[in-house]
Amino acid sequence: MTEIQNSLKGKFIVLDGPDGCGKSTQAGLLVQWLKEQGVATRRFRDPGDTAIGEKIRDILLNPEHSAMSTRTELLLYMAARSQLWNERIGPALHENQCVVLDRWLSSTCAYQGYAGGFGMDRVIKIATDCLERVWPDLTIILDVDIKTSSKRLSRELDRMEAKGDGYHQKVREGFLQLADKRDNFIVVDATQDIHNIHKNVIKSVRNLLATDFSDFSD
Ligand code: TMP
Repeated sequence: MTEIQNSLKGKFIVLDGPDGCGKSTQAGLLVQWLKEQGVATRRFRDPGDTAIGEKIRDILLNPEHSAMSTRTELLLYMAARSQLWNERIGPALHENQCVVLDRWLSSTCAYQGYAGGFGMDRVIKIATDCLERVWPDLTIILDVDIKTSSKRLSRELDRMEAKGDGYHQKVREGFLQLADKRDNFIVVDATQDIHNIHKNVIKSVRNLLATDFSDFSD
């Protein structure tokens, strides 16, 4: 087993950031790179990837549900996450796979906690009581300004995306504040081109896991 394979066994890595930050593209590239290194990897998205989680996701993102309060959002995101852990993430980590996840608790902190006004500390308190695992080994925040992110969101907006620039500006601030306060968070400038962002994502994985990835070449 190579050093990379060994050090990434059972590691839990999250890519997160404002809507339009490119995290799904980057998660795909990261998974591809990990697989090329021979690291057994699973990729999931939060909310989603379980039958229950996908139904909760539909409820959350449906533009018809404009009456939904921040508290309800928070509890639904947490419920989908708890199920995702039980059915997918927990078992994959138990099998020593490396798990790459689109979004996690960091999103609830930035969206419902900070932009929604519930409070990031209160979100973390609830998560501590109801999740089996609160923080990943590494959270990579893909930071992007509102102008760039809205250009990337050209399709029809879902309920969360449609909350307006003021809300999304706060989401960005929430992510940056959270990253500033916590260990195991890295902020990557996501306004660059896809290849450079990918290089920085790999660098973050290398730095944070303190691994000698000397055989990495871009
Ligand atoms: P996605 O389309 O990036 O998967 O995310 C779905 C939307 O849900 C996105 O607008 C961010 C939002 N969201 C929250 O508001 N709170 C959360 O806890 C999570 C995970 C996502």
